[in-house]
Amino acid sequence: MNRIFSGIQPSGNLQLGNYLGAIRNWARMQYDYECIYCVVDLHAITVPQDPRELRTATREVAAGVIAGGVDPTRCIIFNQSQVSAHAELTWIFNCVARLGWLNRMTQFKEKAGKDREGQSVGLYTYPVLQAADILAYKATDVPVGEDQKQHIELSRDIAQAFNSMFGVDFFPLPEPRIQAEAARIMSLRDGTKKMSKSDPSDYSRINMTDGPDDIALKIKRAKTDPHSLPETPEDLEERPEALNLVTIFAALSERTVEDVITEFAGKGFGEFKVALTDLAVTTLGPIGDEMQRLMTAPDEVDAILRAGAEKANAIAEPILREAQQIVGFHRL
Ligand code: TYM
Repeated sequence: MNRIFSGIQPSGNLQLGNYLGAIRNWARMQYDYECIYCVVDLHAITVPQDPRELRTATREVAAGVIAGGVDPTRCIIFNQSQVSAHAELTWIFNCVARLGWLNRMTQFKEKAGKDREGQSVGLYTYPVLQAADILAYKATDVPVGEDQKQHIELSRDIAQAFNSMFGVDFFPLPEPRIQAEAARIMSLRDGTKKMSKSDPSDYSRINMTDGPDDIALKIKRAKTDPHSLPETPEDLEERPEALNLVTIFAALSERTVEDVITEFAGKGFGEFKVALTDLAVTTLGPIGDEMQRLMTAPDEVDAILRAGAEKANAIAEPILREAQQIVGFHRL
C-alpha cells in the first residue's frame, strides 16, 4: 500500500512555490492515500532561529497547510520535534550514509556558499534527517518540488544501503512525486532563481497571506521582457521571466502552458498580467483568509498538531524499534 510523507520548513512566509509545488498536491493525494505531513522544526534549527519566532512559524506553517486544503481529519499533520523517532533514526542513518554522498548535495553547497566551515553540522547532515522523516513511516511516495529531488534520491540510497548492510528487505525505496506543471516556480524578479521564502526581496514572491493589493502590485512589478506572448511554448525557452508567469497562470488555473499560450498568443504582458492578477486573487484569496483566521485560533491549530503527533508516533515508534533490533541494539 502506498503511504505518502512530505515535509515543509517552519520559516514563516509560505509562498506560491510552496503552495503550487507542494501543498496543493498534498491535498490532492489525501483522497486516495494515507498521508502524513510534517512541519519540520528539527530541520529549521540547522540555521539559527529565534525560539519565539520558530514556535509562531510552526503554527503559521501548519495553518498554511490546512488552509491550503489538507484536511486534518483525513491526514496526519504534526511537527517533527514531537515524534522522537525522526531524531533517533537519523543517528542510525548517519552511520549508514557516506560522506561522499553528502558532499554531492547541491542544496548544502548553495546554502553554505563560501563559508562551509562556519555551517552547523546539522546543515550538512540535513538530508539524512530528511531520509529518516520519510523512512520512519516506511513511506513510499514523497510529493515535493523539483528542488527536493536530490534529497529524495539520497533517501533511496540510504534505504537501499541499510537493507543491504543488514541483509534485510526492510525499508522501501521512496519515490519523489513531482508535479510537472509547478515543479519549479521562479522568482518574480529573476526567472533563473527559484521563488523562495528566504529571498530578501518580498517582491520576488507571492506569499500565501498576501492580500489583493499586494498580489496586484507584485505581479505588476514582476520582471518581463519587451515582447508579447508567443504562439508556442518552445518560443518561451529563452525567456525565463515570461515562461515563469505563464507557468504560474497555467498552474493556478490547472491548465497546460500550451493552452494558456494559445489563449494569450500575440497579447502584451500588460493585458496578461491583469488576467494573472485576477486569477491569483481569486485562487489564493480564500486560502490566505483561512490562514489568517487559523492564526487567530492557535488552540485549534495546536489541537490538530497534538493529535497528529500522537498518530504519527503510533506509526513511527514500532518501525524504529524494528530498525534498532535489526541494527543489534540490546533491548532490555
Ligand atoms: P521547503 O520547506 O523548502 O519547501 C516545502 C515544499 O515546497 C516546495 N517548493 C517549491 N516548489 C516549486 N517551486 C518553488 N519555488 C518551491 N519552493 C519550495 C519544496 O520542493 C518542498 O516540497 N527539506 C524540505 C522539507 C522536508 C521534507 C522532508 C520534504 C523535510 N523532510 C521529507 C519531503 C520529505 C524543505 O526544506 O522544503
